[in-house]
Amino acid sequence: MTKNVLVISTSMRKGGNSDTLADSFAKGAERQGNTVEKISLAGKKIGFCIGCLSCQKTQKCVLKDDAAEIVEKMKNADVIAFATPIYYYEMAGQMKTLLDRANPLYPSDYKFRDIYLLASSAEDDNAAMDRAVIGLQGWIECFPKCGLKGVVRATGVEAVGDIQGKPVLNEAFEMGQNV
Ligand SMILES: Cc1cc2nc3c(=O)[nH]c(=O)nc-3n(C[C@H](O)[C@H](O)[C@H](O)COP(=O)(O)O)c2cc1C
Repeated sequence: MTKNVLVISTSMRKGGNSDTLADSFAKGAERQGNTVEKISLAGKKIGFCIGCLSCQKTQKCVLKDDAAEIVEKMKNADVIAFATPIYYYEMAGQMKTLLDRANPLYPSDYKFRDIYLLASSAEDDNAAMDRAVIGLQGWIECFPKCGLKGVVRATGVEAVGDIQGKPVLNEAFEMGQNV
């Protein structure tokens, strides 16, 4: 069965390390005939959640910016892969901001079931991603019909291009193939 796969690249560095992981994952998923869309948050306007909670009644956000379109795509995807750089041993703030802005989905009949995390860090230690995994799991726990299906940890990559030629790109491709 083919799936709708949404890949959300949250780094502002297009062509950077996590964005390249996102591309590999997307190519793998496409190779298997899935319908794949990749979105980059670079250049998008996404404000902070203001905590008004009106979305819990209306399933819409009162803020008018680029989040609404992305959140709608999240709602209708079977699979969502988040790609993030590690900032201060956590997911990047722009990814967290998007997760918060996805609050209209909490009372909704969201379709997504499988969540993936693709992360890159300068430090050459898998533990660099641990808090990002835990952070994403906190979000996932609030959407009990979905689960974390895979994590790719690209460590030891700092500058744009550092990830080129690394085996971790194959890992992301294969994970994409197996969604
Ligand atoms: C604000 C900031 C904070 C960072 N914090 C960490 C960190 O805590 N640990 C780490 O290993 N790398 C850290 N890095 C390095 C990035 O995680 C690394 O360069 C990553 O590969 C960038 O991914 P990107 O090219 O997709 O943006 C930080 C980079 C920035 C800009």
